[in-house]
Amino acid sequence: MLKVGMIGCGKITEVRHAPEYSENPECEIVAWYDMLPNRAQSLADQYGGHVYKSIDELLHSGVEAVSVCVANRAHAEVTIQALEAGCHVLCEKPMAISLDECERMVEASRRSGKRLLIGHNQRFAHAHEHARDMIHAGDIGRVLAFHTSFAHPGPEGWTGQSDSWFFNQSSAVFGALGDLGIHKTDLIHYLLNDPIVQVSAFIETLDKKHADGTPISVEDNAFCLYKTMGGVVGQMHAGWTNYGQENNSTLIYGTEGVLKLYNDPKHSLIFEKKNGEIEKLQLDELTTNKDQTIGNRTNTGVIDHFVGSVIQNIPSTIDAEIAIKAMRVVFAAQESARTGKTITIEH
Ligand SMILES: NC(=O)c1ccc[n+]([C@@H]2O[C@H](COP(=O)([O-])OP(=O)(O)OC[C@H]3O[C@@H](n4cnc5c(N)ncnc54)[C@H](O)[C@@H]3O)[C@@H](O)[C@H]2O)c1
Repeated sequence: MLKVGMIGCGKITEVRHAPEYSENPECEIVAWYDMLPNRAQSLADQYGGHVYKSIDELLHSGVEAVSVCVANRAHAEVTIQALEAGCHVLCEKPMAISLDECERMVEASRRSGKRLLIGHNQRFAHAHEHARDMIHAGDIGRVLAFHTSFAHPGPEGWTGQSDSWFFNQSSAVFGALGDLGIHKTDLIHYLLNDPIVQVSAFIETLDKKHADGTPISVEDNAFCLYKTMGGVVGQMHAGWTNYGQENNSTLIYGTEGVLKLYNDPKHSLIFEKKNGEIEKLQLDELTTNKDQTIGNRTNTGVIDHFVGSVIQNIPSTIDAEIAIKAMRVVFAAQESARTGKTITIEH
């Protein structure tokens, strides 16, 4: 039985990590820490386990694996501390706030011999898994282009607060790009198995304001143009100002037709073929900020995957060495927006 600890006991821990670990028969949550102790206590009351007074105390309590679910700025520091203490880590996205930090996390994992996985849960959505199989089987022909979006009204709908650390440069560092764009950038790598090597981006704060009416200090929109090593071109949009229905969709254009993923309320995968035939599948639904239930699925799959990868010591599709490639793209997007130039990435 894998002994698990939770570092950071906010919303993602409450709705995903805690329930999904607790449903997994191969692990047990034994330790909790949050800088706001009442948050840790309320989850410990619900799921069992001990609340610790510091991260260090938790890491030396006999836990074997931890989830790192703190604010973005602290991901690298806490993750490296946990790896050096001999724990396997599942760190939430975005992996960290600079490429140097991401590289130090990967290095700490190698040095310690402990696993480091990043919470790129979109890889486990069933329509994404099915689409990847179809693309690799050649069903849509040669991939030409893509269009992927993750846009909702903003983190207020997630945290339930009109203002939060998500809006502050000091704690979040990224806005919509690191919050939502990293998911879709990583998803393109997953679906195409073809790394993004050129990036051009506009990253803007168009509308979002703090509760006192001043503009937030991180971006609320990122529009990125990507080109892969194999020559596929596409657009990635991450936005916090979509005041309509959440858009978490991806279109992949191939020489034999178009794949539409999570682009229709009834069918999570639609394949519109060049010859006019249409295939429609309802494989699952994605969670939204408002609704964390997942249609016919019981969980996101990311926690079970982490536990299985650690126990069986098998390579993972969300290993840090893979996740860092999407982070390189996101940092290149920031550089492009800053300089007005197209940035080339060496993976
Ligand atoms: N994979 C996903 O789809 C997904 C979804 C939402 C959030 N996230 C990520 O999860 C992380 C947490 O987000 P959240 O929505 O739970 O936020 P949250 O504000 O609800 O919770 C964060 C918790 O961490 C605690 N905390 C912050 N810094 C800390 C530190 N240095 N030490 C100890 N505790 C600290 C806070 O007190 C808070 O309880 C973020 O990095 C976010 O990007 C991922």
